[in-house]
Amino acid sequence: GNQIGLVPSILSADFTRLGEQVREAEAAGAQRIQIDVMDGHFVPNITMGPLVVEAVRRCTKLPLEAHLMITNPQDYIETFAQAGADVIIVHYEVSPHLHRNIQKIKAAGKQVGVALNPSTPVFMLQDLISLIDLVLIMTINPGFGGQELIPETLPKITQARQLVTQRGLSCDIEVDGGINAATIPQVVRAGANLLVAGSAVYNEKETVAQAMNRLREAIVP
Ligand code: DX5
Repeated sequence: GNQIGLVPSILSADFTRLGEQVREAEAAGAQRIQIDVMDGHFVPNITMGPLVVEAVRRCTKLPLEAHLMITNPQDYIETFAQAGADVIIVHYEVSPHLHRNIQKIKAAGKQVGVALNPSTPVFMLQDLISLIDLVLIMTINPGFGGQELIPETLPKITQARQLVTQRGLSCDIEVDGGINAATIPQVVRAGANLLVAGSAVYNEKETVAQAMNRLREAIVP
């Protein structure tokens, strides 16, 4: 089975010293880094784009995930691939031609991620699951860090894990939103193997190393 990995999201990092914050996360055992791209259309926030992916690319050897919370993601796949993303995550809700988006990401030589908002059923992916490398189950409504996990999304994690397991696939099941020491046991038990955390990793109360250790301790065997 997939080893469980912590994936810091830099949305909550201190952008006056982003490089340091990325290196701290790498040193503390992050499996990969997630970059939250938002356009103010698909989600009610504007954050960062390919420029930041390029910058983070220069700070770490870890795999980078570009989480595209943008409309028309198909128009930016090449851009984020060239910026250095290893995994390109598009949202189901803005991919009426999802199979074509998957083909474009693969053509760019990158891993394919598909994200589902809380209201999007897992079975929407049942016909394409064998082509997908990572399913991202949003456990909040995307747009901002620091929100509470939506409990109604928990069964979706198990449904996604079952969809992958029954087909003998090795697709990652990733969760994102309100992931912290309190919610990690539930999402791991439900079948998640990649845990995205923003405010639980980057906050004023503790160092990144302390935060990451606390999160790792919550990954009960
Ligand atoms: C929000 C982003 C999440 C966010 C998670 O739309 O996609 O990755 O950074 O933040 P926390 O972990 O603070 O809920």
